[in-house]
Amino acid sequence: MEKTLIKLENISFGYNSFPVLKNINFELKFGEKVGLIGPNGSGKTTFLYIIMGFLKPVSGKVFIFGRERKKDKDFLEVRQKLGLLFQDSDSQLFCPTVKEDIAFGPLNLGKSRNEAKEIVKNIAKVFNIEHLLDRPIYKLSGGEKKIVALATVFAMNPVCYLLDEPSSGLDEDTRNKLIKFLKNHVKTCLIVSHDRKFLKETVNKIYILKNKKVSLYQVF
Ligand SMILES: Nc1ncnc2c1ncn2[C@@H]1O[C@H](COP(=O)(O)OP(=O)(O)O)[C@@H](O)[C@H]1O
Ligand SMILES: [Mg+2]
Repeated sequence: MEKTLIKLENISFGYNSFPVLKNINFELKFGEKVGLIGPNGSGKTTFLYIIMGFLKPVSGKVFIFGRERKKDKDFLEVRQKLGLLFQDSDSQLFCPTVKEDIAFGPLNLGKSRNEAKEIVKNIAKVFNIEHLLDRPIYKLSGGEKKIVALATVFAMNPVCYLLDEPSSGLDEDTRNKLIKFLKNHVKTCLIVSHDRKFLKETVNKIYILKNKKVSLYQVF
């Protein structure tokens, strides 16, 4: 039996009195690669924020790595080991330059300056963004920001990847590099996307979030 990595039990959440998630049950095991689809505004991003502890459910329980997570301090370990790609790259990137942003995660996880440098170099090579490393973030295009944001997540080598619309805004070549990376280097992930072709290449099953509920949609 595979071990459970994320478990949500009867989760409900709303913004003020506006309900978004209702009695949601969900489980992700180590080694599983799943997609999450759903209409705009159905609560996909909210769902990821509940897992990361940025939003707290009104009712229900969140278990990550087998432990219930309630308070902010319970989520410190979660935020170090789960790599979240924000839907909006501007929420991800906050350092002056690209290379500092990619190095930030590894340094924060206790890597030395030299180790972080090596990680930046390797990731930049994989995604062909060496020419962007010294650029200030604000001078990047939307698509460049997206691939740099992805690089900051990959640099952390997380146990599980939570990616919120990773393929949006990417050119075909970059998209293919991302698919290859997800296929070859990522063991466990939850990918929110409207891009069915992308999901078909990167995950084994798809859930749908609709009418405040998550249910299984498709298994490949
Ligand atoms: N901070 C917020 N305050 C109030 N309503 C919000 C907030 N963030 C999102 N919402 C609303 O909650 C619903 C779910 O949003 P979201 O999780 O971003 O959906 P999705 O990612 O599926 O498009 C939407 O109707 C959205 O307008
Ligand atoms: Mg969203």
